[in-house]
Amino acid sequence: MAHTSTPRERRVTKAVIPAAGLGTRFLPASKATPKEMLPVVDKPAIQYVVEEAVAADLTDVLLVTGRNKRALEDHFDRNYELEELLSRRGDLERLEKVRASSQLAMVHYVRQGDPKGLGHAVLCAEPHVGDQPFAVLLGDDLIDPRDPLLPRMMDVQKRYGGSVVALMEVDPEQIHLYGCAAVKPVAGEGDDVVQVTGLVEKPPPGQAPSTFAVIGRYVLSPAIFPALARTRADPRGEIQLTDALCELAQRHDDGGPVHGVVFTGRRYDTGDRDAYLRATVQLACERADIGPGFRAWLKEFSAELG
Ligand code: UTP
Repeated sequence: MAHTSTPRERRVTKAVIPAAGLGTRFLPASKATPKEMLPVVDKPAIQYVVEEAVAADLTDVLLVTGRNKRALEDHFDRNYELEELLSRRGDLERLEKVRASSQLAMVHYVRQGDPKGLGHAVLCAEPHVGDQPFAVLLGDDLIDPRDPLLPRMMDVQKRYGGSVVALMEVDPEQIHLYGCAAVKPVAGEGDDVVQVTGLVEKPPPGQAPSTFAVIGRYVLSPAIFPALARTRADPRGEIQLTDALCELAQRHDDGGPVHGVVFTGRRYDTGDRDAYLRATVQLACERADIGPGFRAWLKEFSAELG
């Protein structure tokens, strides 16, 4: 008899990166360019995210794109004219940088016609992903490569099946800005693995079930697709991934369970202007090449600010 593998036995090989949002918090910069293409120091945010996927052995990457997809496609493609010019000049260092993004991974694209929310963007990935667990990485959240998160999430998914979300403890006053998870401990696990018993998107102040915020990394069971297809749009017309995950967390059949991995490492939020500026400064300070000079200037500048 042929062996059919259960979702739990299947290895995660595909990464889905939604990049079709309107990016209204970054207008006018995001008017003609996806916000995922905004540079953090000298690389677009999305390149850090693809590099993270590749470091976790996910070399099949699907970008969900919207109306300005050209810049994304061009970034992960060859640029022969530029390569030729740099090569003629003998500028091998820059040539290497230009080539790197086109050699990172097998990048595929799918179009999300209308930006009907993150859940809808993930649903657009179904034909590419098929019937296997897969990772979702949001371009807003950069995870420091020194604190790998996805490999831990994939381990947990392998052990328990179902889906895994990344959680981060935030100040109680901040939780209304995030999706929030109700959790319970898991016997035999350390503090960093919990079972998710419910999820609520941006809970009103005082009504959050915990201070665990969902951050932009997921390892999802293919059961998410029918759950998303059933999920009703919210009052803003968006299909929320959180709502579909909540359904899976509360089901006791093949769709669940949903676990959470509590992340305590370095994360750089680039989702709005303030966070983006901080991330850029933090990452610039860390860089071996420009870091020392930039830090020295930053010290002087903050002294001037008083
Ligand atoms: P965000 O809510 O941060 O993105 O979605 P947004 O809607 O583009 O931003 P604002 O609030 O208007 O400034 C999280 C991720 O989901 C993607 C976004 O591109 C981002 O990476 N997304 C969101 C989609 O791909 N499609 C959507 O319909 C919505």
